[in-house]
Amino acid sequence: MVCALGIEGSANKIGIGIIRDGEVLANVRRTYITPPGEGFLPKETAKHHREAILVLVKASLKEAQLEPKDLDVICYTKGPGMAPPLLVGAIVARTLSLLWDIPLLGVNHCIGHIEMGRLITGAQNPIVLYVSGGNTQVIAYSNQRYRIFGETIDIAVGNCLDRFARIIKLSNDPSPGYNIEQLAKLSSRYIKLPYVVKGMDVSFSGILSYIEDLAEPGRRQNKRKKPQEEEITNYCQADLCYSLQETIFAMLVEITERAMAHCGSNEVLIVGGVGCNERLQEMMRIMCEERGGKLFATDERYCIDNGLMIAHAGAEMFRSGTRMPLEEAFVTQRFRTDEVLVSWRED
Ligand code: FE2
Repeated sequence: MVCALGIEGSANKIGIGIIRDGEVLANVRRTYITPPGEGFLPKETAKHHREAILVLVKASLKEAQLEPKDLDVICYTKGPGMAPPLLVGAIVARTLSLLWDIPLLGVNHCIGHIEMGRLITGAQNPIVLYVSGGNTQVIAYSNQRYRIFGETIDIAVGNCLDRFARIIKLSNDPSPGYNIEQLAKLSSRYIKLPYVVKGMDVSFSGILSYIEDLAEPGRRQNKRKKPQEEEITNYCQADLCYSLQETIFAMLVEITERAMAHCGSNEVLIVGGVGCNERLQEMMRIMCEERGGKLFATDERYCIDNGLMIAHAGAEMFRSGTRMPLEEAFVTQRFRTDEVLVSWRED
């Protein structure tokens, strides 16, 4: 039996989870929410995490009704992510490991999402779409690696949504993406936007610039070709939110479908914060069903960054014999999904 505590703080959420052999014992989280029009910056986010982390560690042990001595391993997010908030989690994990004399493991954040999604949904060997504020990847398992089949070549899909929400001054509470989704429901008027799929990869930065220009005509000094004046005045924010979602989600569905065809897979698992979006889930479900496949998705407790996913992936690593010396307990902003040897899977 492996009982693991996981610490996640790679972006604007700080979360602690405790899991024992796949049984969820605690999952507590706080989100750093900035005012409308503002993103979260590394230094301020780290300050938020520092102020919350010890309270959350205590709350998780209380929720799980456990003592530190009941834990077999302490896991933390090693990367990828923003360095200052990542360091908060790593330093607390190292300290608790030494204080309580419990082994320590650094976990890849993306692997955490994948393993948590597989556990919660029961998907066996799915094509994984990992979509969040910092990541956009289509992943498939092969030969002890989670291999990246397609990814963004510039900004993440969630970053595109977050930045557009900032331009139109939407609230960041509970998240900018959630508020775009609600606004999009008010429209069914599609405004044509660039659609940028390059082989198995996608690009969002040009789409963002284009739609920012529609939302705020004259925003840029050196203006490129602009839509007609009367067209601009007819757009409303809901139309733009709707059109942005339809375009970028269609791009994601396209590359996911191609990965399914290539691998001969009939399962898709969506993970990451953008994975909560019900319109993305609906579009992906339609594609899956047309192919005779099945979509697996989770709710916000598990698809938004959380400590539990780090605990679970760490527990799987620990169970399969992975150990980490204390001097390797650092963080790294760049840590690709396919760098990790998936020692806990044998298929
Ligand atoms: Fe994430």
